[in-house]
Amino acid sequence: MSFAHKHLMGIEELSAEDIALILDTAEKMSEVSRRPLKKVPALRGKLVVNLFFENSTRTRSSFEIAEKRLSADTLNFSASTSSLQKGETLVDTVLNLERMQPDCYVIRHASPGTCQLIHPFTKAALVNAGDGTHEHPTQALLDAMTIRQKKGDFKGLEVLICGDISHSRVVRSNIFLLSKMGAKVTVCGPATFMPPHLESLGVTATTDFERALRGKDVVMMLRIQMERQTKGLFPSLLEYYKTFGLTEERLRLADKQVIVMHPGPINRGVEMASEVADGPYSVILDQVENGVAVRMAVLYLLLGGSEDEAAR
Ligand code: CP
Repeated sequence: MSFAHKHLMGIEELSAEDIALILDTAEKMSEVSRRPLKKVPALRGKLVVNLFFENSTRTRSSFEIAEKRLSADTLNFSASTSSLQKGETLVDTVLNLERMQPDCYVIRHASPGTCQLIHPFTKAALVNAGDGTHEHPTQALLDAMTIRQKKGDFKGLEVLICGDISHSRVVRSNIFLLSKMGAKVTVCGPATFMPPHLESLGVTATTDFERALRGKDVVMMLRIQMERQTKGLFPSLLEYYKTFGLTEERLRLADKQVIVMHPGPINRGVEMASEVADGPYSVILDQVENGVAVRMAVLYLLLGGSEDEAAR
């Protein structure tokens, strides 16, 4: 089976079958990372340009590793040392890079819709590595890979996503993905972090964290996104932790087999206690590990591979 999309701009445009194909391909790719020689020739001769205009540890590193494990040539474009600093626009930057014959751009930017903005100016595949508060599709895919490994199936799974719902691209991508795959999603946070009309996305919305935790199979905590807030939306970080911080005591309200997730970076003592982040229910570092496999799968499928040939 081959992937019917040229770009990955968001989860919203994918079907459940597309998502399953990416996850199945990622499982095959994860085997490559366990080999003594962690490399396959699948994307030999392809050029992938990583355009990161926002800070990143996990996404940037794992895309670069994924590209190298697939034998692609990579260009890490540094916005801070580029001619953007002299006033060149993003579109002009792409028009110039375009003459270097890239096959794919991986783009992280603070503005929602950056891939859509660039789209008319390039022949290359576009992968959204996080665009403002819009989507972070590969994060939701690596989250889904982790959930599927730990829980087997999405059907009927009770998932709670708690934190800065308004500013989070991770929550939007996860709501789209988990709903398409049949999970039941509840979102929770302070009223000032909850956008209106959330229920129209098919989720349950609440500000009562302890009640929302009861019986949940998956608890995903989100980072407080200070960089996207224009005014103080809660009194203090301590106040936030007292009401919405995930402690060991609160976690006991969830299902006995609960898994705890966080996209990173974690603010310890704000979104969750260190005992929870490092504790037996945490799968946070499994998420990071799956990031390489998911990004290998996405690049491989977009740049011409099929699931049957993956990891050969
Ligand atoms: N989860 C995530 O996107 O982390 P980075 O910002 O470090 O890439």
